[in-house]
Amino acid sequence: MSGKPVCIADFEQHAKEVLPKSVYEYYRSGADDQQTLADNVAAFSRLRLYPRMLRDVSVMDLSTCVLGQNVSMPICVGATAMQCMAHLDGETATARACRSMGTGMMLSSWATSSIEEVAEAAPDGLRWLQLYIYKDREVTKALVQRAEKAGYKGIFVTVDTPLLGKRFDDVRNRFQLPPYLRMKNFETNDLAFSSEKGYGENSGLAVYVAQAIDPSIQWKDVKWLRGLTSLPIVAKGILRADDAKEAVKHGVNGILVSNHGARQLDGVPATIDVLPEIVEAVAGKVEVFLDGGIRKGTDVLKALALGAKAVFIGRPIIWGLVYQGEEGAKEVLQMLKEELHLAMALSGET
Ligand SMILES: Cc1cc2nc3c(=O)[nH]c(=O)nc-3n(C[C@H](O)[C@H](O)[C@H](O)COP(=O)(O)O)c2cc1C
Repeated sequence: MSGKPVCIADFEQHAKEVLPKSVYEYYRSGADDQQTLADNVAAFSRLRLYPRMLRDVSVMDLSTCVLGQNVSMPICVGATAMQCMAHLDGETATARACRSMGTGMMLSSWATSSIEEVAEAAPDGLRWLQLYIYKDREVTKALVQRAEKAGYKGIFVTVDTPLLGKRFDDVRNRFQLPPYLRMKNFETNDLAFSSEKGYGENSGLAVYVAQAIDPSIQWKDVKWLRGLTSLPIVAKGILRADDAKEAVKHGVNGILVSNHGARQLDGVPATIDVLPEIVEAVAGKVEVFLDGGIRKGTDVLKALALGAKAVFIGRPIIWGLVYQGEEGAKEVLQMLKEELHLAMALSGET
């Protein structure tokens, strides 16, 4: 890439040029043939905007509220695992970038910085914890309690990962963490995805999930989680109206319409295509968010127009981290904010 990035694709191009191949491919890949990966982006391109004219857009307000917390814009950062492979400051850089942009960050259970380190990096920042439900419920419970204690404002429980989707590149690359990194929220080599533990001829992460994550979870486990914490809970990974209703019945405070960045079941719809039916199904009872394929301000506007309270971005933040750590992540957020501002102004929305 020559010169400064002018769009999110430029940040990705830079990452492709500088990252080790197996790391870039881990971040970029979708599952199987990656049909849904392409569709997450293509679906936004199929939607058209119908702007209103002469609506005085000289004063605009992009701020909103997510689970009771104010954010400067309806663009938040979603959980992406193992950010220290993108930049040594990893999740702590993301936390600082989010704080300076006035938005929230969802920390992955599989972060390479701990819950507490991320809290200390930006104590007054807005953070949520993404939760995987481990076979060992005490491990799961401890994550929730540590998040509560460290001032996190909500739990996004991932419901689409009883097993890891098949990502061909990760299998080919026998993907695992480099020896100097661990999943920092865990003590043992087994739970910390340490490369000291061998993972054989497969994606190391797929082996890890099969060993540690509970494939037997059901809606009653969401109820268990509800009883464990008073923090807001969001079901992350809902793609159907009936599941959305089920989630509401089991006490969640929000739904994140997500196909895990197309990394789990290939062939599922693009998230933007199922958003309207989910918004309709929950009928305003809880907040509805969306992630998957957001790369431009107009994508954000389309999601908001179809009923999302806010959107979350995954890969773009990774590309920002690779570009320039905290500053790069901030530039990505700033770019999307400016693009949303422009898209709203040109649409007559304030
Ligand atoms: C590299 C990478 C790692 C991810 N790690 C997690 C994770 O640890 N937990 C989780 O619930 N989702 C994870 N996701 C899914 C994201 O939270 C989010 O759903 C997705 O990235 C949104 O799509 P986008 O990348 O097109 O913005 C990951 C996605 C990527 C690309």
